[in-house]
Amino acid sequence: MSTTEASRRANGYALGHTPQEYERLRAQARVWEPATARVLDQVGPPPGARCLDAGCGPGETMRLLAQRVGPAGRVLGIDADASIGALAVQMLHGGGQRQCDFQAHDLTADEPVPGGPFDLVYARLLLFHLPQRVAVLARLWDAVAPGGHLVVQDYDLRTVSVLPDLASVDEVGRVIMGAFGAAGADVQVGARLAQLFAQAGIGVPEGTDVSGRVEPLGTGTVMLDCVFRSLLPVALAHGITSEDAAAAALAELGRDATRFADRPMLWPLMIGAWKRRAWR
Ligand SMILES: C[S@@+](CC[C@H](N)C(=O)[O-])C[C@H]1O[C@@H](n2cnc3c(N)ncnc32)[C@H](O)[C@@H]1O
Repeated sequence: MSTTEASRRANGYALGHTPQEYERLRAQARVWEPATARVLDQVGPPPGARCLDAGCGPGETMRLLAQRVGPAGRVLGIDADASIGALAVQMLHGGGQRQCDFQAHDLTADEPVPGGPFDLVYARLLLFHLPQRVAVLARLWDAVAPGGHLVVQDYDLRTVSVLPDLASVDEVGRVIMGAFGAAGADVQVGARLAQLFAQAGIGVPEGTDVSGRVEPLGTGTVMLDCVFRSLLPVALAHGITSEDAAAAALAELGRDATRFADRPMLWPLMIGAWKRRAWR
């Protein structure tokens, strides 16, 4: 692990900041695009709206938001990782979506979210990683303009499995869950969103949405493999696996992906919740 990579991981975010991880995030975002589009369709936003994508990563949801708000709207992406934000803006501007902008900011900082208020505040796969998730959620809600919406989508990892079970998938899953847990992530946060809304003083969500995905192990294993590799430094640092055991687990997973390519693999659930802020 490079020094830059080590210092970036020191902020508690368990996944990496490598080109491979950025590509994995983009591939993952494309998988969930229909699920996110469906939730965005429930709440707007109208042309000209001001939107925030909190923890925007590679900017794939910023693209969806820009398509909805049009050139008169504004889409701000915020992420603690300035490098991924720069790539996101480059991709968006290259595609003609010049209403998109990026600001590097740590959303766990005890200060208002910059750039608000917004007609739509959106966050996907962000709260999962943040031990301060209630405080962050409250700050995101504070950034919503009267009449605007807060929309959150996040994972519940409990469904990740292959049918029938395989020891290689179980072992890779054990390491992934262990590393996320050691970093303070909540791997069931999606199912807890309504509770978190209540704890953050937002109230009962107006709507919820659950999306899933089943894929043959032959192709689904790629995401497991990539998440495992991205989390490996954290897993090693916490003694959850060793270099040798990790290499053996990945080799076994690769063999099983070929031998049992047609076994169905269930992804995490993507769970959404949203709420409109009352007009004053
Ligand atoms: C799993 S990625 C999800 C990216 C994007 N929302 C998506 O769904 O495609 C989580 C993102 O949250 C960002 N992040 C993590 N901790 C953060 C923090 N404290 N403040 C701002 N962004 C953070 C990471 O850098 C990463 O880009």
